[in-house]
Amino acid sequence: MTENIIEVRDLVKHYPVTRGVVFKKTIGHVKAVDGVSFELKAGETLGVVGESGCGKSTLARVLMNLEKPTAGQVLYKGQDISKLSGGALRRLRRQIQLVMQDPYTSLNPRMTVGDLIGEPFEIHPEVAPKRSRRDKVKELLDLVGLNPEHINRYPHQFSGGQRQRIGIARALALRPEVIVCDEPVSALDVSIQAQVMNLLEKLQAEFGLSYVFIAHDLSVVRHLSDRVAVMYLGKMVEVGTEDEIYERPTHPYTQALLSAVPVPDPTVRESKAIIRLQGDVPSPVSPPSGCRFRTRCWKAQDVCAQEVPLLQIRRGSDHPSACHFAEKREIVATHEAA
Ligand SMILES: Nc1ncnc2c1ncn2[C@@H]1O[C@H](COP(=O)(O)OP(=O)(O)OP(=O)(O)O)[C@@H](O)[C@H]1O
Ligand SMILES: [Mg+2]
Repeated sequence: MTENIIEVRDLVKHYPVTRGVVFKKTIGHVKAVDGVSFELKAGETLGVVGESGCGKSTLARVLMNLEKPTAGQVLYKGQDISKLSGGALRRLRRQIQLVMQDPYTSLNPRMTVGDLIGEPFEIHPEVAPKRSRRDKVKELLDLVGLNPEHINRYPHQFSGGQRQRIGIARALALRPEVIVCDEPVSALDVSIQAQVMNLLEKLQAEFGLSYVFIAHDLSVVRHLSDRVAVMYLGKMVEVGTEDEIYERPTHPYTQALLSAVPVPDPTVRESKAIIRLQGDVPSPVSPPSGCRFRTRCWKAQDVCAQEVPLLQIRRGSDHPSACHFAEKREIVATHEAA
């Protein structure tokens, strides 16, 4: 069995909602991540997909130990990361790196590319002694497909795709084991997206990296992911391999997301029911009781308001789904179906 590099257990992250300027009073909580469990194996890519506000970036920040969980644990090689300090915490900071969505805002415009990519060495000098740093940075530039001669240029002198490559070089500098990619291609043109995805794939093969790859859209993560987890309003609703999620989805939300993915083949397109979800995502401050998706679900029954459906393998299926009525066959929406 492959080793679990990260294990997430019943992770909860709530943010207080306050009122008042001087005497802040907590009037509720944003339930950004609300009971999420999964594992990431060495060398694996886990895609995490869901609509805006479902808690993807919050999950990323807690995984990176940038924020403490409200409850639950993140284990890195069996160790609870919130309990690490001193040398162990420094090592963790090296081993897990983040690539962020927006290369325009995540790079300091006043630093040269050389300084930006070399900055991690200032914090972890043991990785590269001062005299070898410039060469290391040039190596990294080459590795991500940028010209090492451009080491003295500034971020604004690069295109969006190139800036994302700078972000990736920076994340790679300390030779991490895990990279959390938080929508790394969402801000890029479609043609550039594929190039950056290919680069991430190449680097994974070369360095045996594990990825948590966050995206809005199921089509983005399909090619790269070994497994995909679908999130809705702070919870994971379905987890599975490519075939399980894309060919045999059982959760109505996954089915709805998939039906929105453009299908190039016209015969498939015609036979595919389009499921249009009603209404908006409810507020994470007061999510619906029971199943959070029930207010937009065409299969919802009384039990869905009363019982929280656990993420578990359902009868007749082969992978976990958090739906009381998980079904293998393609569901045609009873309302607004085209
Ligand atoms: N620091 C914070 N304080 C209060 N609420 C927060 C904070 N960070 C995030 N939230 C809230 O938590 C919820 C989840 O936010 P998060 O950024 O994790 O979503 P996301 O899935 O990454 O969305 P997007 O796709 O837009 O990036 C949202 O309702 C958001 O407003
Ligand atoms: Mg986000």
